[in-house]
Amino acid sequence: MKRILGAGFAGIALTAMATACWAAKTPDVQEAPFGQTASGKAVQVYTLTNEHGIQARIMTYGGTLVSLKTPDRNGKLADIVLGFDSVKPYVEGVPYYGALIGRYANRIANGRFTLDGKTYQLPKNDGPNSLHGGDKGFDKRLWTAKPFETKEGPGLRLTYVSADGEEGYPGKLTTHVTYQLRNDNSLSIEYEATTTKPTPINLTNHSYFNLSGNPQNTILNDVLLINADKFTPINATMIPTGELQPVAGTPFDFRKPTVIGARINDNNEQLHYAHGYDDNWVLVKPHPDAMTTAAVLTDPGSGRVLEVKTTEPGIQFYTGNFQDGKPAGKGTVYNYRTGLTLETQHFPDSPNQPSFPSTILRPGQTFKSHTVFIFRTTK
Ligand code: GLA
Repeated sequence: MKRILGAGFAGIALTAMATACWAAKTPDVQEAPFGQTASGKAVQVYTLTNEHGIQARIMTYGGTLVSLKTPDRNGKLADIVLGFDSVKPYVEGVPYYGALIGRYANRIANGRFTLDGKTYQLPKNDGPNSLHGGDKGFDKRLWTAKPFETKEGPGLRLTYVSADGEEGYPGKLTTHVTYQLRNDNSLSIEYEATTTKPTPINLTNHSYFNLSGNPQNTILNDVLLINADKFTPINATMIPTGELQPVAGTPFDFRKPTVIGARINDNNEQLHYAHGYDDNWVLVKPHPDAMTTAAVLTDPGSGRVLEVKTTEPGIQFYTGNFQDGKPAGKGTVYNYRTGLTLETQHFPDSPNQPSFPSTILRPGQTFKSHTVFIFRTTK
């Protein structure tokens, strides 16, 4: 493994031997090979370590967060995201574990939308709909990576240029995603994009969290707060009806911290459609782009707490309803509901829903979005 950046040594490459001499708590970035894509291109993994020893590993395939080690209430580090030890299972196909999602996170009805009078057809890769950017979305693309370090902590700036017409979407879209593992114990993800033609855009990270650090445990005993008083109900193919429904009196009310498993099996049409939770919540915001708390997840066993802040208007909370134990990762299997996602986003199917906040990016504009995952513990 090559140490490529470190406090006071930005840009200086050091040998593996020198690396071993550094204390674990020196913030730095290391680079190592992680396998190859199907076409034989080399994939690199970057390990970011902040000054408290929190560690995030991100690979260039899919800009994927491969592992994230944070302390429990006793200071013991464990990996709180599900993932795999090499790029191989990702290339063979896993459902978006830790990946960056684009061009359009979540579903577009019938894989079709009309923009400025022209209709575009996208791949239908989720029943009748298009999901997470189509057959080969951003999660299956090779990103270029540039490590950096500021006083806030070590980081990685990823870039992917999506060709005009890729997966049916118009315009050449240049996307930069900047991960920074900050010394205030947070992982910041900043998204930026520009286009040559008007196009829909909705970017997120699809990490499956298991705060217990032991993926043998389900996520059902975790306690969740979602800062939303409405959600976007869906039809049987998981496309929003267009309505914003109050959460009050439903199993979707997480305005107070609530055990995830408490109502997941309620007799509720929305829960049946999604086979559990797999919905978009409408976040409470003082103004549309405000950076606000979207969710707070607590694992009572380990004491780990994850707070999610975002400038996005919505969050998809998904309870691993399609997890089936395959493939095995990091020496264990990922069974039903052993990971949950908190995907900050614009609402699903926005290109076909005139009442939802717009997801259209036009030439000359810069798309910007920012999400921060904050790590702390509770007694
Ligand atoms: C998203 C979707 C889910 C599912 C997962 C991947 O979270 O909303 O329905 O497709 O991705 O399995």
